[in-house]
Amino acid sequence: MDMYRFAYWDPRRPGRAILVAAGRDGVPRSSSLRPTYAYDLLVGAGRWEPRYSLGTFPLRCRRSAPRPVRCGRQGMGGLHATEAGLTVVLRVSGRNARFQQWKALLDNRTKRQRRGEFLVQGVRPITMAVEHGWQIRELLYDTSAQLSGWAREALDTVRAERFAVSRELMHELGGKADAVPELLAVVALPEDDLRRIPVGPTMLTVVFDRPTSPGNIGTLVRSADAFGAGGVIVTGHAADVYDPKAVRASTGSLFALPVVRVPSHQAVLSWVADVRADGIGMSIVGTDERGILDAAEYDFTQPTLTLIGNETTGLSSGWREACDQLVRIPMFGSASSLNAATAATVVLYESARQRAAAARR
Ligand SMILES: C[S@@+](CC[C@H](N)C(=O)[O-])C[C@H]1O[C@@H](n2cnc3c(N)ncnc32)[C@H](O)[C@@H]1O
Repeated sequence: MDMYRFAYWDPRRPGRAILVAAGRDGVPRSSSLRPTYAYDLLVGAGRWEPRYSLGTFPLRCRRSAPRPVRCGRQGMGGLHATEAGLTVVLRVSGRNARFQQWKALLDNRTKRQRRGEFLVQGVRPITMAVEHGWQIRELLYDTSAQLSGWAREALDTVRAERFAVSRELMHELGGKADAVPELLAVVALPEDDLRRIPVGPTMLTVVFDRPTSPGNIGTLVRSADAFGAGGVIVTGHAADVYDPKAVRASTGSLFALPVVRVPSHQAVLSWVADVRADGIGMSIVGTDERGILDAAEYDFTQPTLTLIGNETTGLSSGWREACDQLVRIPMFGSASSLNAATAATVVLYESARQRAAAARR
């Protein structure tokens, strides 16, 4: 039995773990990450659980000969892996099983769900995911790129498994015809648990009922973030919040506030009942182009659950019955209704406007 200071293991590769910091002889002496060698360890079952600075702990292991691990890539000047704050770099240049997994995270909702992770593209979304403490499982970088300071810093500081991926494959995973991303991230899905939604006397939560467009989900989440909502709930049979189009459209806001998927409106209504029982007088306000009251006449300064309906059919009958009020955004042209995410943006702006005015009084 050896003792190690920093280690993690990955259930997707059972029986294998990676020692990320230990002295040359495998005996930890300090919390320093240098010198670092990677070992293949034989461990018993373990769930994914990065352990950092938890002190020494035992692992059953069979140690192979110590060997330094090097990045050996352009753009980092051949830095030793530990100087980059990383330990293990795996190379992917062909369409192997790992690449197929990443592709599936982009294209296949069932696979995302089964693996409990999704692929994040873009500088701002990746930055937001890191800043907001999301679990980054893997970082993929373009082997042939001269990496920017941002990408280097992410590789230096974010604790995740690193993959050096060929330019061609990065291009395919990046989702843009005319650009190759220098960095992509595989991020763990958070739990769909309504307890993640903040409640209180100033709460403002948006429900999006059965949205069909991932772009609309992302846009609505972005507006909810911009106008001070505490969370978003997506109800019913809907497009996936973690679809790359939704993630891109949210421009990182998806990582800044809780977005929870709930199979039906009943589950949300029982959560509302619990919140009300705790003394928060939350009101449920539906939006509809045929609503009775103008949104500007409704008091959005109270704790509010604002409902936005499906792009084609509007709010479900269940939600309509649950509404305390149905408000409309007045329209003056020939349009029969607004786009759902646009309507959400207008109502959220009205909520923020009223709340700011009330705070000034
Ligand atoms: C495209 S609309 C749905 C139109 C659909 N034909 C219907 O009958 O409801 C999608 C959602 O956006 C919101 N919405 C669109 N225009 C609105 C308006 N003028 N006032 C209030 N809400 C509106 C509502 O929540 C609506 O359910």
